[in-house]
Amino acid sequence: MLIEVPRSTERLGSVRIHTLQKILELDATMAEAEALPIPKEEVATVRQITIKEIESIEREMAIVVPIRNEELKLFEGVLSGIPHNCLIIVTSNSDREPVDKYRMERDTLAHFYRFTSHKSMIIHQRDPSLAKALKTGGLSKILGKDGLVNSGKAEGMIIGMILAKFAKKNYVGFIDADNYIPGAVQEYVRNYAAGFIMSTTSYVMVRNSWVYKPKILESDVYFKKWGRVSEVTNKYLNSMISSRTKFETEIIKTGNAGEHAMSMKLAEILPLASGFAVEPMELIYLLEDFGGEAPSMDTDAVKEGVGIFQIETRNPHFHKEKGSEHLNEMLLAAMGVIYHSSLCNTEIKKEIIKELIAQGALTPDGIPPKPKIYLPLKKLRFSQLKEELEKIKTAKPEERTLELFGL
Ligand code: GDD
Ligand code: MG
Repeated sequence: MLIEVPRSTERLGSVRIHTLQKILELDATMAEAEALPIPKEEVATVRQITIKEIESIEREMAIVVPIRNEELKLFEGVLSGIPHNCLIIVTSNSDREPVDKYRMERDTLAHFYRFTSHKSMIIHQRDPSLAKALKTGGLSKILGKDGLVNSGKAEGMIIGMILAKFAKKNYVGFIDADNYIPGAVQEYVRNYAAGFIMSTTSYVMVRNSWVYKPKILESDVYFKKWGRVSEVTNKYLNSMISSRTKFETEIIKTGNAGEHAMSMKLAEILPLASGFAVEPMELIYLLEDFGGEAPSMDTDAVKEGVGIFQIETRNPHFHKEKGSEHLNEMLLAAMGVIYHSSLCNTEIKKEIIKELIAQGALTPDGIPPKPKIYLPLKKLRFSQLKEELEKIKTAKPEERTLELFGL
């Protein structure tokens, strides 16, 4: 892969946010002997990353695929796009009745494994044994009134992160299950690897920014640059940073980046927000805790610094359209985390309210919801959690939803 180096970097306390990086060439097969005459690192404007480097990261990476009632054809395509050396972790919140969609996903994964030997696992988010394990581990907040894990993409991500930690992976990335283009999935994962290779700190996050999110307009494809929610989230995250530094910035291009990845070291210290508030909250937490205003408890991460890479994909993002109500829910969740952040001043709060009312996402007397924040993995009682999860592995097949393939 040939990728431009970040043109600039915004430094806030110990957080370094790099500008959006473009990929110049997707292919990474260039042999070392025929490497480009790239100048020394300190003057180079592009970075060459070999397939060997990418593969070595992929071996240490788990890809979590959260899924809820997606078409099986899409799910199968997504699986085929994930590089072979990455462990696949599917966390499903699909219906079990009247049709057992989870069972169909499990069978699809089993079939995929039979033909590819791609190491993978799947679990249902609302498995009672999983709820018990999380409760024992100290994460009762993730359980609803029914005693099972709450619905939500973030909840699926957290389960995936825990399983990735058990599998001793050093990196964890997320890929949505509703992507129409398997080749795009492959690129997205390789971009994660590229970010990890470029990083100088072990506390690192890589966020993909989709080059286009095409829409069908008057029976033709229109290559739209930004999604409705992303545009607004990026705007207010940037306003918040600008108000802090007193220099206007447009550095954030990945406020809602669903397709993103982290080093396990960073994933372990990050408290995640519920549902679709999760991606903007990751940035806000890093800015609040490591951005210089309040000293963080994690001195190791402060010393080493936290790096955030934003990579512009070459493949556009074609995914299942889920309607405007879904977008409003996502917008409200994203604005909620910004609105309730200690870095958000009254001026920005007023603007957020105005924006949400104009978009029809809030009534004139409402305020955006305060996000529910979960404990970071590091704060959990891991050995107890592990013990409970091990029990699920050995339970009778008809009583468990955790299935391991090739592990
Ligand atoms: N495990 C689990 N549990 N997965 C879920 C749940 C849940 O409760 N709800 C949704 N998912 C899965 C979906 O099946 C899909 O694979 C993925 O999470 C993303 O959900 P979508 O419903 O497709 O969201 P989106 O496409 O509107 O939004 C995506 O892009 C946004 C940025 O534009 C998501 O990745 C967002 O998180 C992201 O902010
Ligand atoms: Mg989607």
